[in-house]
Amino acid sequence: MRRKLAAGNWKMNGTRASLSEMAAMEGIAGDATDVLICPPATLIREAASAAKGVSIGGQDCHAEASGAHTGDLSAAMLADAGASHVILGHSERRADHDEHNEHVRAKCRAAWEAGLVAVVCVGETLDQREAQNTLDIIGGQLAGSIPDGATGLNLVVAYEPVWSIGTGKVPTVDQIGDVHDFMRARLERRFGAGVGRSVRLLYGGSVKASNAAEIFAVSNVDGALVGGASLKAADFVPIIEALN
Ligand code: G3P
Repeated sequence: MRRKLAAGNWKMNGTRASLSEMAAMEGIAGDATDVLICPPATLIREAASAAKGVSIGGQDCHAEASGAHTGDLSAAMLADAGASHVILGHSERRADHDEHNEHVRAKCRAAWEAGLVAVVCVGETLDQREAQNTLDIIGGQLAGSIPDGATGLNLVVAYEPVWSIGTGKVPTVDQIGDVHDFMRARLERRFGAGVGRSVRLLYGGSVKASNAAEIFAVSNVDGALVGGASLKAADFVPIIEALN
C-alpha cells in the first residue's frame, strides 16, 4: 500500500512569521498519510528544526554538488539544512529558468546522491491539451526527467497541468484519472511492476478543501502538491484531513 502524501509548495511566499502556520499543520495526518512542506530556502533550516511529524523540502537544487554558481543551492546544502525532499522540474522553473527535461534529470540524480526524495513535476500547457497531446507530453517528461534508479522511496511524481496552477481551473476527475493511470503504466513499464506501483503520484493545480476529496478518490492519485492553499493552516488542514 502506498502512503498518502499532502505536500505544500510555498513557492516565493513566507517569512519566519509563516512558521506558525506550519506548526498548526502538525499532528493532523493520519497513520497512513505524510505531510511535506516546501518553504522558501530561507526557511528550511528553521522549519526543519521546529517541525514535528512534518517533512521539509526544497523547491529546486543545482545539478552540481558545489562550485561557482552564484545564488544556487546544491542538494547536499538542502539536506544539510534539514530538507528530506526537493521539488524538481516545476513548470514555473521550466518556464522562468528555461529548464528542460535533461536539466531536471541531472538535478534528480544530484538529489538522490544527497539522499533527498525527488518530487518531479510534469504537466501540459493548455495549448498542448487542446491539441490532444497531453499524454505524449507527459510521457516525454517522465522519460526525460527521471533518471534510471528510481524507487518508491526516492521518487514522487506530481502531475500539474500548467493551465490549472493558480487559476482555479481543475481538470475533470476523468482527465486526472487518465493521466495518473498513464503515468502508473509508464513507470511500471520502465522500472518494473514493483517499483512502478510503489512511486507515489500526486495531483497539483488549484487543489482546495472543496475539491480535495473528489480528486483523492481518483485511481492512482496518492495525494496532492498544493500551492496557494498550503500557505495557511486553515486551508491546508482540511486537505490533509481529506486524505486521511
Ligand atoms: O506546486 C503546486 C502548484 O503549482 C499548484 O499551485 O496554487 O494551483 O495550488 P496552486
